[in-house]
Amino acid sequence: MSGVKIVGVGHHAPERIVDNAELETWFETSDEWITSRTGMKRRHWTSENEATSDLALAAARNALAFAKLEPSDIDAYIVATVYPDFLFPATACIVASKLGAVDKAAFDMEIACSGFIYGLTVASSLVRAGVYKRVMLIGAETLSKLVNKDDRGTAILFGDGAGAVILEASEQDSFLASELGSDGSRPELLRVAAGGSRRPLDHLALDERADRIYMEGREVFKFAVTKMIAATDAALAKAGLQKSDVDFLIPHQANKRIIDAAMKYLEIPPERCVVNIQEYGNTSAASIPIALSEAVRAGRVKPGDTVVFVGFGGGLSWGAVVWKWA
Ligand code: UT7
Repeated sequence: MSGVKIVGVGHHAPERIVDNAELETWFETSDEWITSRTGMKRRHWTSENEATSDLALAAARNALAFAKLEPSDIDAYIVATVYPDFLFPATACIVASKLGAVDKAAFDMEIACSGFIYGLTVASSLVRAGVYKRVMLIGAETLSKLVNKDDRGTAILFGDGAGAVILEASEQDSFLASELGSDGSRPELLRVAAGGSRRPLDHLALDERADRIYMEGREVFKFAVTKMIAATDAALAKAGLQKSDVDFLIPHQANKRIIDAAMKYLEIPPERCVVNIQEYGNTSAASIPIALSEAVRAGRVKPGDTVVFVGFGGGLSWGAVVWKWA
């Protein structure tokens, strides 16, 4: 077994910024409600011509520049997303080709907002097992295209963006532990009901807006707090570490109140938790790698730091990874 470390980080968000004031003109809501209930102030939304692969590509280029690597240096490309360019082919194939990486392994992963946590576990395992020397993992989403813009309960929450990491084989091992979980018994709590084989798209589905995100917010909120804490606890236990050993928590950015509740339990003070929800909203599988890229580029996360990545989302699904930054 080899070790693995992250040698490159990158992120990208579309130019267009939608702030809470703009949302006030769409339906009955207020900056006060959105800020106090979610912590969100702004989110980035794609233009009509931008797709998930475009954001992924930009984040990938940033990560390659950070690592001073060429696209051909990467052996496998993985994109975690709930809203790929197409049902198939995989968005990762499109990204790898647009980068000019020829004949490389490329595939997508779909586990909603937990995509980066699951992806980091899979990508790390590929490197640690010696299958690949370098793997690029990109979380990329264009959820503004998937929300029902008449539903104030969800339209305010989601933003678009992409974050990328490059994993490389290393003598020292940054991957300390992973805890993943799922419960698919109640998919109706958070899903897009139509457009898959259970209910292919038809006119009725479109009339019902069943092609858009539906969420039972309160139920998901309770689940999120519980699982975020449990996954972090379990991953730390697997790594043989205590809560007090954590230098940085980088959580999925779904709701500032969810993050605050977890931080309180985990006894993490605000300066050791990376929060950028005010700028991006909830970007699903992209939220953790965007936050990581910003924190590393700002010099906040430094070699030697113990970092916990923790996420949750549709599935329902959840997970945490404990990482020693190298
Ligand atoms: O990443 C995937 C995982 N997703 C999440 O983790 C999201 C988890 N859930 C949440 O973050 C929160 O449940 C929400 C932010 C979605 C909603 O906050 P809440 O405090 O749970 O509000 P609520 O759904 O209980 O609604 C409270 C009230 C309702 O009015 P009534 O029924 O009390 O009269 C809603 O209709 O707030 C109303 N409301 C709004 N009011 C103003 C819902 N959305 C809005 C809005 N503006 N945008």
